[in-house]
Amino acid sequence: MSVIALTGGAGYIGSHAALRLLRGGRRVLIIDDCRRGQPGAVAALRLAAGRHAGALEHTPIDCGDADAVERALRTHGVEAVMHFAGLINVGESVQRPGEYYRVNTGATGGLLEACRRAGVERFVFSSTAAVYGEPEPDQIPIPEEARLLPVNPYGWSKLHVERMLAEHADAARAQGAGGQGGKGGQFRAAMLRYFNVAGADLSGHLGEDHRPETHLIPIVLRCLLGLEPERQNTVSVFGDDYPTPDGTAVRDYVHVEDLVEAHVLALEAMEGAGAGGGAGTGGEVGGGVGGDGGVGGGAPWEGVRAFNVGLGEGFSVRQVIEAVRRATGMDPRVRIGPRRAGDPARLIASPARAMRELGWRPKVTSLDQIVASAWRWMSAHRQGYG
Ligand SMILES: NC(=O)c1ccc[n+]([C@@H]2O[C@H](COP(=O)([O-])OP(=O)(O)OC[C@H]3O[C@@H](n4cnc5c(N)ncnc54)[C@H](O)[C@@H]3O)[C@@H](O)[C@H]2O)c1
Repeated sequence: MSVIALTGGAGYIGSHAALRLLRGGRRVLIIDDCRRGQPGAVAALRLAAGRHAGALEHTPIDCGDADAVERALRTHGVEAVMHFAGLINVGESVQRPGEYYRVNTGATGGLLEACRRAGVERFVFSSTAAVYGEPEPDQIPIPEEARLLPVNPYGWSKLHVERMLAEHADAARAQGAGGQGGKGGQFRAAMLRYFNVAGADLSGHLGEDHRPETHLIPIVLRCLLGLEPERQNTVSVFGDDYPTPDGTAVRDYVHVEDLVEAHVLALEAMEGAGAGGGAGTGGEVGGGVGGDGGVGGGAPWEGVRAFNVGLGEGFSVRQVIEAVRRATGMDPRVRIGPRRAGDPARLIASPARAMRELGWRPKVTSLDQIVASAWRWMSAHRQGYG
């Protein structure tokens, strides 16, 4: 049974991915020192995994510690890494950029070095729509070839990782070509640029428990439950004068289980891809010159490949609040404030590449379903994972 290492597996998205992989018959090694994630999430995961729980291991180490990670990868016979670990708060990244480069970018350097030494050549990276910054109006829905120009350290810390992955792939290829007896040179990475991830495990075991919470849907729900006293349990809407139908900013939401499915499909595409050939090489990042040859159907996949993951549909802040009213029957308190610097009016993905090349088809396509799943978990777990 293949073993997949999940850095950040004690976090929101990583724990959902772990559950999906376990249920799919894979062994999972979580690499997470729980600096932000919850040990309670791993316990909930074991419970949710049921008969698959024996296939789950957790090692509480820093994913940037190349020596420790190399040992863990070798000991567990890891074949692929999904790299979720990171710091995720845009505002915090503006206040402490060094910390974001250290954790998001620097630690990934250590992780990649461990992968190189342990011979791990399949990698799925949690990138973000923040690598696009403020898109040009004529580039919405945003394709992967859109200009990459982050407007905050968080986005840059992720874009640097994309670059690093491309360089790592180039180095592996050069080493393979240098006559290593067929070993090496096959490194492949999928860089999934998530838009707004929301909702909870539909079986009700796992949910979103960020501390502090900075995402809109859980904030609105937490305000309703009286869990945001420092916000006076009131939702702040940043700007109602955007050039959007109701004046509030529009974002693309994707359900966490659909997002996780994109990881599994990317992994399978990399596993099934033949060696050699040329879709998406290191050149994709920064220059927008990567091959668009397609990797579906077992076609070659060499190097790195970026995929947007979003529904391709936008919902405004007011629409989210309305969806919460419908899901809960309660009326959140709302305060309209000024726009925040660097908040674009609309961020909507074009998920066409993931659909075409990975066969990705989101199942949860309505905002109401996304919100209802989040509410179900949160109302049953008011203290999160405790
Ligand atoms: N949540 C979203 O909407 C969203 C959107 C775009 C991108 N992403 C990306 O997805 C990834 C996961 O997001 P999330 O919401 O699950 O975050 P999260 O904070 O819930 O989980 C991140 C996990 O990484 C762990 N971690 C951080 N640094 C580590 C290190 N050096 N070593 C070991 N463990 C470490 C934390 O303890 C935590 O459990 C992040 O990389 C984030 O940038 C998330």
